[in-house]
Amino acid sequence: MKIGIDKIGFYTPAMYIDTGDLAEARGVEPGKFKVGIGQEKMAVAPKTQDAVTLAANAALNILTQADIDAIDYVIFATETGVDHSKAAGIFAHELLGLKKSARSIEVKQACYSATAGLQIAKGHIALNPDSRVLVLASDISRYGLKTGGEITQGAGAVAMVIARDPKLLTIESPSVYQTDDAMDFWRPLYSDTAHVQGKFSVIQYINFFKDLFAQYQEQTKTSLKDFEALVFHTPYTKMGLKALQSVLEDADEADKKRLLDYYEVGKYYNAIVGNIYTGSLYLNLISLLEQNQTLEAGATVGLFSYGSGSVGEFFTGILQPGYRDHLKKEYHEKLLEEREQISIERYEAVFMDTIPNGVGDIELDIEMDPALICLAGIKNHMRQYVNKQQ
Ligand code: HMG
Repeated sequence: MKIGIDKIGFYTPAMYIDTGDLAEARGVEPGKFKVGIGQEKMAVAPKTQDAVTLAANAALNILTQADIDAIDYVIFATETGVDHSKAAGIFAHELLGLKKSARSIEVKQACYSATAGLQIAKGHIALNPDSRVLVLASDISRYGLKTGGEITQGAGAVAMVIARDPKLLTIESPSVYQTDDAMDFWRPLYSDTAHVQGKFSVIQYINFFKDLFAQYQEQTKTSLKDFEALVFHTPYTKMGLKALQSVLEDADEADKKRLLDYYEVGKYYNAIVGNIYTGSLYLNLISLLEQNQTLEAGATVGLFSYGSGSVGEFFTGILQPGYRDHLKKEYHEKLLEEREQISIERYEAVFMDTIPNGVGDIELDIEMDPALICLAGIKNHMRQYVNKQQ
């Protein structure tokens, strides 16, 4: 049975900053952020958007009534969950009007967990072929103002429907994965910003990619020419490029050109959104699928998933006939175009304006936020979500 991604979409908040403005404000050469890091714009989340609302907004645009009636499993991947106990998937389940006879859970392992969600979904569909599973990957990346990681922040979510006979991309076997207990990036329970050993995290990411890619090729007797394109977890676009370059040293010119050219296409959305943690690999995939002019059905795409801590996985998918007809390219381009560019002063104010820990009651102004699904406040310590369409 073919199982894979039947639908895919993303959402990112309505505000962004230009990384050139950030460079100027931080006294850094703009070339460092634009070329050295490879980021053009960075999404900024208002406090009316959290992991739940971003994910639900991403799902709204891909789900039809038939999907809503069929989805029997919601797997919510995040490292910026809103409750230590209750799964973010349950809030999303209610906001999207999904049926009661469905499971809703949350999964965590830094930026890797959406891939765990995808593989759990694949196993579930293998046992229940008529099932449709909603995998949500949603995060707000925060390192702090004036920190080394600041330029690699972002916010957004990816929603995917996983099903048999998928319209976009099958998820193939085998898949190779590994775990290594490393402190390259982490966020203690008391902190709303990440701790990171930046340089170590880059080395750890590249080593994971090289190891897993080599293991995969050895197991499947494949080589570079068997991959039409490769997509990467993309904390910033130079990161995936460095990993890709690390396996191209001995490649022939044609393989090098093809993989680097498709990397350019795939990085487009990531470069103007920023790191969305769990969704970053899948945003890279959406960008490749929507922005390429030449990828044909039957092409094999390799996917590298990495989550600090660390867990990584390399696997492949095959593009399905007519896949272009089932993408949301126009919607995504409009969403990105209609965002408002804000000043660094306003970004700093928005960044600091978070809901203080322990606040039991607060009302938020959702009219300021064009998103259809928003966090409207907190009442008796319960988060109040609103779907403006309902
Ligand atoms: P840094 O010290 O600010 O930057 O840290 P740098 O000094 O290493 O410079 C970056 C690049 O800019 C270098 O190029 C410079 O040469 C270049 P490279 O050697 O990398 O090719 N450069 C310039 N280029 C053009 N014109 C100029 C110029 N000046 C310098 N004028 C770092 C950068 C990414 C480490 C930092 O921002 C950071 O700590 N970010 C957060 C951690 C991160 O994103 N790590 C990625 C791997 S781990 C991961 O992906 C998991 C993660 O998503 C979390 C999760 O799993 O949940 C993060």
